[in-house]
Amino acid sequence: MSEKDFYRETFESLVPSVPAQNESFKEQIAEVLYDFLQLQHLYDSAIEVVKTYLTIIDNEFSVKFQRNPIHNIESRLKSPQSIIGKLQKKGLPITTESARMNLLDMAGIRVTCYYISDIYRIVDMLTSRDDFTIIKQKDYIKNPKPSGYRSYHIIVSVPVYLSTHKTYAPVEIQVRTIAMDFWASLEHQLKYKPSAAITAEISEELRQCAERIAETDIQMQNIFNKISDLD
Ligand code: GTP
Ligand code: MG
Repeated sequence: MSEKDFYRETFESLVPSVPAQNESFKEQIAEVLYDFLQLQHLYDSAIEVVKTYLTIIDNEFSVKFQRNPIHNIESRLKSPQSIIGKLQKKGLPITTESARMNLLDMAGIRVTCYYISDIYRIVDMLTSRDDFTIIKQKDYIKNPKPSGYRSYHIIVSVPVYLSTHKTYAPVEIQVRTIAMDFWASLEHQLKYKPSAAITAEISEELRQCAERIAETDIQMQNIFNKISDLD
């Protein structure tokens, strides 16, 4: 059975109320489902390509310098709901083609490092690969957001080798320290609490917390540098 027939039959069993004679509608649904699953597979594979490379770098550091620069790697594929929501918000067509053309953050990876210097090392390695194309790069560490948010963001287009051909997909990579992640996670939670009333005063307080955390990050980096100099 072809994949499209499979989705057509799946749809028929899920929505039996659609009249059997409405063949073209079923055909259309099968096509949309198939396209979407292909898209998800592509972006999921792109995430794997980047994650594998990051793991290789991390292990190489471990061999060369007896320490790992990466504390944690998380990844996510944007849900169909958020994809549709974002396309709607931007007033763009709701199709897989439109998602592919317009949304650069469907595949997301968050890399948490120990020290600020580790972030720049990781970014350097990601941007120096000649088969990765940088689409967008933003240093929110040197230029924090007005909220106080800090992280290094890169969107890279990476090659994915499928069974019949090579293709490319963009991956958004956020690189930050454990301290930056601590602030971003809590601030995100607070902002999206159902009862959240983020007044100007609270925003200012959150920004001040980000400043203090950033100072601590710099202090920890200095301690690390001093200790490393002793080696
Ligand atoms: P999006 O439409 O949200 O993707 O914005 P953008 O394309 O302008 O990208 P930007 O670099 O501003 O931010 C993308 C992502 O960074 C968000 O989805 C969040 O994960 C994170 N981010 C950006 N600003 C903040 C912030 O103030 N607080 C927190 N907690 N996260 C942030
Ligand atoms: Mg986003």
